[in-house]
This record gives sequence, structure tokens and C-alpha cells, in this order.
Amino acid sequence: MRRLLVTGGAGFIGANFCHYWAAGHPSDRLVVLDALTYAGNLASIAQLETRGALRFVRGDIGDGALLGTLLKEERIDTIVNFAAESHVDRSIEDPASFLKTNVLGTQVLLEAARAAWNTPAALASGRFHHVSTDEVYGSLEHGAAGFTENTPFAPNSPYAASKASADHLVRAYNRTYGLPSTISNCSNNYGPYQFPEKLLPLCILNMLEGRALPIYGDGLQIRDWLHVSDHCRAIEVILQDSPVGETWNVGGSTQDPNIAIVGTVCDLVDAAFAAEPRLATRFPHSAAAAGKPSRSLMQHVRDRPGHDRRYAVDSGKIRQRLKFSATTDLAAGLADTVRWYLANESWWRSVASGEYRQWYARQYASARD
Ligand code: NAD
Ligand code: DAU
Repeated sequence: MRRLLVTGGAGFIGANFCHYWAAGHPSDRLVVLDALTYAGNLASIAQLETRGALRFVRGDIGDGALLGTLLKEERIDTIVNFAAESHVDRSIEDPASFLKTNVLGTQVLLEAARAAWNTPAALASGRFHHVSTDEVYGSLEHGAAGFTENTPFAPNSPYAASKASADHLVRAYNRTYGLPSTISNCSNNYGPYQFPEKLLPLCILNMLEGRALPIYGDGLQIRDWLHVSDHCRAIEVILQDSPVGETWNVGGSTQDPNIAIVGTVCDLVDAAFAAEPRLATRFPHSAAAAGKPSRSLMQHVRDRPGHDRRYAVDSGKIRQRLKFSATTDLAAGLADTVRWYLANESWWRSVASGEYRQWYARQYASARD
């Protein structure tokens, strides 16, 4: 039986991980530590908390005293660190908050684990898994081979630089202090509970409300899309089978440009409206309700500064050594995701309010709505 601390467990991937872990490991102890920033939503894990499948603690990974108490009183042996500022566009506006959580916060968490696991037995049973990103490797030319675990770091945004710094610290705590850590560098996730600032939920919600779909630059940038359930399973495999000190790349092996992915999602929304006439009543401002294709809402807007052109992940190491491969087909995963947002309007209405509305208005002031 494991006793897990999941930091950032009220965010997109963290919440999916809690649902995944509670279903597959019901006798494990699950404690979530989350600061509930604008991106954290208790609603995403409320069902688990209500039925006693996890304990939620509101707090900051930069709070060493809180961490010390929590690790001790809960006898935590496994830490999975999802907590981060995660949106590239926000890191361009306010890099300092990214350094505070992603770099300094991670260091405080590492130090707390080192202090708590201070016996040979605790070190032998402990595991600190750090969730990182393929963005640490920078941008790939078209046709270039995918990132491997040996690709040199070349981060291009303050977000990516902060994640790269954290990865170096996790590695250093393993090499210097013997902290039993592992790292995963994963590509773009999509699926349920993703905050609407990210491309796919942003476009789905904008389609439903008849707003423009902002495509940065020419829209030919390429991301390697992975369903979040595959990411959760990869972390499970790493926790169970990886030696300490290892780094693992995780990707979905998809290579479609942004405009193609958004186009696919437009067609899925239109098909849902065609199959279910009541959707037009629920979303009267949508293009689909007016009988227009959702693709007509696509609008090219100013590009993101320093925008990485292409990511592609070589997942050969995790496939060969841990026998992990992503199994969710992109078309099926996108269709499921569209269905989830249509079925969970109260979730996205509650999270896409207040701070987010103001941020959105500032961010997309130049786009025609
Ligand atoms: P998210 O923004 O949806 O969630 C982040 C969570 O962390 C939120 O619940 C937030 O409240 C919490 N948090 C922020 N600062 C905190 C702090 N100081 N202390 C405690 N909690 C804090 O992010 P996400 O998309 O779920 O990403 C989770 C992790 O996975 C991040 O580390 C991110 O870098 C990494 N990652 C994300 C993707 C992706 O496609 N979304 C891909 C690869 C890696
Ligand atoms: O690669 C993994 C990373 O994926 C994670 O580490 C990050 O936390 C996560 O946010 C994500 O970063 P991206 O910048 O790739 O995701 P985002 O959804 O912001 O953008 C995806 C692509 O779509 C990117 O090329 C920028 C573009 N885009 C994004 C938005 C929000 C648009 O064209 N229009 C938009 O409105």
C-alpha cells in the first residue's frame, strides 16, 4: 500500500490522475495538496473527497513548514508533483510567478522530502516523481527526429525555462543526496477537466458561445497530442517499474498542425449539433445553431512571442524498457473530449468565470469576437 501526496491535484492532469489512481488503487492513501490558484478547481475532485477516497489540503508547495507536517503526519512515501504554473502565454506576461512555484516551490518540496525520508528504510521505500514537459527541449525543425531523453535542454518561454530549471534540481537532489526521484517529460495533454485557457477547451467553449477561434500566426505549429488518461497510466508505470534517477519521455506520436486539430474539433461539434437538436437551444449563440460551420469562427491572430514551431517526442525508451505505449487514438480521444465538455457545462461555467474572463478579455483584445 502506498501513501501518496499529489501536489496540484485540483488541476487538469492532477485531477485526472487522482480519479485514475483512486479507481485502480483503492486501498492506497491519497492526499492532495493544492494552492487553488485560478487553475485549480475543487469541483474536479469533489466526488472523490465526498466519498472519502482522498484528503484535500489547501496549501502551497513553497510552504516548507506545512509540507514537513503533512509528510510526517500522513507518513507519505510517494510524492507526485504536478503543482505548477502551466500556461505559456501567462508566463510571457508574468514570469516571476512561474519561477516562484515551478523552481523555488519544487526546491522546497524536494527539501521537505529529503528531510522526511532521512533513514535508509524511508529512502528505500520513498519515491518523488516530478511531472515535466517536452517544452524543455525547445522547438524542432520540420522533419527532425523527435526529442529523446538525451536531447539538450533549449527552453524558449519563461514557462519552459522554469520547468527545465526544476528538472535540473530534481536530478541534482537524486545525484547529490540520493533522493529517490524520477522525471517524466510529456507532450500536450487533452481530455476532461482541462482549464479553458488551453487551445482545445478554449476552442470548444468559444464554438458553443459563438466567439472567434484564435489561431496564433499561420496555425501550422505542430504539437504531439496525448490523451490525459495515457499520461496518467505512464506515471503509474514509472512509479511501479522505473529505477530511481531515470527520466522518461512520454508522447502520443501525433503530428497534426494546430489548424487541423481545431478543424477536427469544429467538425465534431457540428456533428454533435446535427445529431442532437436540443444543443441548438442550449447554445443559441453557437455557429452550429445558426446553421453555419464552426470552422467559420477560426480567426488568425497575432502569434505568441517565441512560439515553438514543432514538438515531437520519441517515446522509444519508455516503450522498450517499461512496455508503455499510448493507446487512445487521437480522433476517438477528441470525440470523447467534445462529449465531455457538452455534458459538463456546469463545470466549465464555474471555472471559466471571474479572473479568467478578465484575463481572456485582455489576452484576446485584438481578436474579433
Ligand atoms: P494546471 O494549470 O491545470 O494545474 C496546476 C495545478 O497546480 C492547479 O490546481 C493549481 O492550483 C496548482 N498550483 C499552482 N501553483 C501551486 C503552488 N504553488 N502550490 C500548490 N499548488 C499549486 O496544469 P496541468 O496542465 O494539469 O499540468 C500539471 C503539470 O503537468 C505541470 O507541472 C505541467 O508543467 C505539466 N505538464 C502539463 C502538460 C499539459 O499538456 N497540460 C504536458 C506536460 C507536462
Ligand atoms: O508540450 C507540453 C505543454 O503543452 C505543457 O507543458 C503546457 O503546460 C501546456 O500548456 C501545453 O503548452 P502549449 O503552449 O503547447 O499549449 P496551448 O494549449 O497553450 O497551445 C497549443 C498550441 O496552440 C500552441 O501552438 C499555441 C496554439 N494556440 C494556443 C491558444 C491558447 C493558438 O493558436 N491559439 C490559442 O488561443
